[in-house]
Order: sequence, then C-alpha cells, then structure tokens
Amino acid sequence: MTAKIISGNEVAKEIRQELKGRVAELKEKGIVPGLGVVLVGEDPASISYVTSKAKGSQEIGMFEETIRLPADVPEEEVLKVIDGLNKDPKFSGILVQLPLPDHISVEKVIGYISPEKDVDGFHPVNVGKLLRGEPCPLPCTPHGVQQLLFRSGNDPAGKHVVVCGRSNIVGKPLAAILMQKAEGANAVVTVVHTGAKDISYYTKQADILIAAMGRPNAITADMVKEGTVVIDVGVNRIPDESRKSGFRLAGDVDFEAVKEKASFITPVPGGVGPMTVTMLLYNTVEAAIRLNEG
Ligand code: GUN
Repeated sequence: MTAKIISGNEVAKEIRQELKGRVAELKEKGIVPGLGVVLVGEDPASISYVTSKAKGSQEIGMFEETIRLPADVPEEEVLKVIDGLNKDPKFSGILVQLPLPDHISVEKVIGYISPEKDVDGFHPVNVGKLLRGEPCPLPCTPHGVQQLLFRSGNDPAGKHVVVCGRSNIVGKPLAAILMQKAEGANAVVTVVHTGAKDISYYTKQADILIAAMGRPNAITADMVKEGTVVIDVGVNRIPDESRKSGFRLAGDVDFEAVKEKASFITPVPGGVGPMTVTMLLYNTVEAAIRLNEG
C-alpha cells in the first residue's frame, strides 16, 4: 500500500479562507481580532515561527504586533509586557513564544497571561478545562492534528490512537483532546514515551499513529502496521550544506519507508506545521468574539 498524502498546506488554506470571511464579518461589527506575540531572544526557529504567525495574521485581516525582547531581559520585564497586553483591548490573544531563556520561569510567564487571552491554551486554567471537557482554547498543534484527521476523512472516533510523546505542548493535550466524548474525538488513546520498554509493541497496535518525539527517523517502517494513518508532528533541523539556509527539515517518521505501509501520511514540511499557525489564528478570532460578548 502507498499512502495518500494529507496536505497540511491545503487544509490550512481552507481553514484560513473560512477565518478570513469571519474576520471581515467581525470588522463590520467594529471588532478587530488582535494578536500580541512576545519573543524573547534570537532563537532562529522561534524567529521563523513568529514571522509566520505575523504573516498569517495579516493574510486573514487581523491585527498583529510582535514585541521583541533581548535574551537577557529580566523576568519582571516580561511580566510587565504581559500585564500591558492583558489590559489592552486591542489584543484578543496573547502568545509568548517558547522556549524561554533559563532565567525566566515558563510556568510564571504562562500563568500571568489572562486565561481569556491565552490563545496557546497553555494556562493552567485552560489545561484543566480541556481535561474536564469544558469549552476552552485548544492548544494549536494538537488541534491542528485533530483537524487534519477529521478533514481528511479519518475521524478518530472508536479508533485506537497511539500518541508517541508526552510534552505539555503536543502529547498530553492531544491525548486529552482525542479522548473526549465529542465530535472529532471519542478515540481510545494510548500515550507512549521514553519510559516504555518496547515502543514498537504499542505503535504496531495503532489505527492512527502520532509521532511527537522530537527525534528524526524515530518511527521506522517495522514499527507500523499495514494501513495505519500516520501523523508526523516532528520538526527537526538537519544540517545540510547544499541548502542556502544550511539545514533541511525532517519529521520524526522515516517518511519514504513508512509511506509504503501507511494508508495516509503527513509530510514534513507541509503537514502539521502550517496547521499550528492556522489554529492559533482560529483561537484569536474565537477569543475576540468571546471578549466582545464579555
Ligand atoms: N514553541 C513551539 N511550539 C509552540 C507553541 O505552540 N506555542 C508557543 N507559544 N511556543 C511554541
């Protein structure tokens, strides 16, 4: 079997088109969704993510402002910036790009963002709501994965989803989203991590396999059963002298070999990546509506 490719670029385009229409309607009512992004330091991957968030916002007609702070900025100063964004009605959504330098507490910074404006869905209040199945902003990458599955005709309902990775950004929230008794979810979820003695014992049982380990080629063809739907969340920068940038992107899945066994597969780049930014835009539009109803 050769897998069908699930194009994140195409699904993202479809959702952004929907969002563009919603932003135009909101503007007629005098509501302009606004995103405030805080970037600390000069990490090249973070700069690239933040740039695509700004570009995406502009494309759908939203207001966006990136606040750039030096890597040695005191924690207190970051909290002050967040306080300003919390109070400013121009911003319906706030995002602090991670990772942060070691001297700044991620927990403190995330906890300082107003939960109503937390478009990453990382605030402890929103994490709690997600687990309880209450309405809340869904973390962008896991929400993007869910949309890719649903919109490619691979409804997770009743399927065995094996999530490889237990990060707070992807693995844990994805498991929480897909286990809910809700449309586009209702799956049986297994979370596999470095504590497993034999990861392949679990991956071979997956109807839907999600790779979010942050390690290139972590999922090889022998770990996948015939006909599995494979979603690759990995974004690994591999040094490559032949590229102008000096690197190429690779996922966590051995794409060429696994695509011969899978029924569907996402590429890297052009799979989950464009969905993350898209769901951030979605969360910002939703936050603007909620804040206006306030
Ligand atoms: N760094 C990597 N992924 C993310 C994300 O989804 N949100 C934020 N804020 N930082 C990230």
